[in-house]
Amino acid sequence: MRSTVRRAVCPGSFDPVTNGHIDIISRASFLFDEVVVAVGVNKSKSRLFSADERMDMLSEACRQFPNVRVDGFAGLLTSYCQEHDVHAIVKGLRAVSDFDYELQMAQMNSSLAEIETVFVPTSPEYSFLASSLVKEVATFGGDVSGLIPDFVLELLTARLAERNQEASS
Ligand code: PNS
Repeated sequence: MRSTVRRAVCPGSFDPVTNGHIDIISRASFLFDEVVVAVGVNKSKSRLFSADERMDMLSEACRQFPNVRVDGFAGLLTSYCQEHDVHAIVKGLRAVSDFDYELQMAQMNSSLAEIETVFVPTSPEYSFLASSLVKEVATFGGDVSGLIPDFVLELLTARLAERNQEASS
C-alpha cells in the first residue's frame, strides 16, 4: 500500500548545485510533504566534485528547508524511487529545448514504474543557468557570483585553482 506521505525526488548530478537547482527544490518543498534531493553517483561520468562533495554542498544549501533531505543513488532512478516509497519526480524546465529529453525520460520512468514526473518551470532569472556553463565561465575567469551560493563559489574557485595548478605542474 502507498504511504500517505507525499514524497518526491529532485534528481540530478548537481556538479555543482546552482541557484536554479535551489529554486526548484524550494518550490518542490511547498508542493510535497517530503523532498529527497537525489544525487546521481554513477561512476561513468567524470565530475569536478566527488559524490560526497556534491552531497555536502546540497545539504548545506538545503538546510533552510525542513522537509528536504539529500541522498545519493546509483543505477536507475526508478529503482531508487521504488525502494524509498517515492511516487513523484520533480524536474525543472528551463526552456522548450529541455522538454523533448525530459518528456522522453518522464515517459520511460513512468513505463518502468508507477512514478509521475512533475515539471516545474524554472524562474526566468535562472532560465539560462546550468552547472556546466557555470563551470565553463568560472574556468575562464568569468563572474558567476549570484548564480551559485557564496560558499559554493568559494569551493568552485578553490577546485579550479587546484586543477590549474595540476595542469601547469
Ligand atoms: O543533472 P542531470 O545530469 O541532468 O541529471 C540527470 C539524472 C541523474 C537525473 C538522470 O541522468 C538519471 O535519472 N540518471 C539515473 C539513471 C536512469 O534512471 N536512467 C534512465 C532515465 S529515463
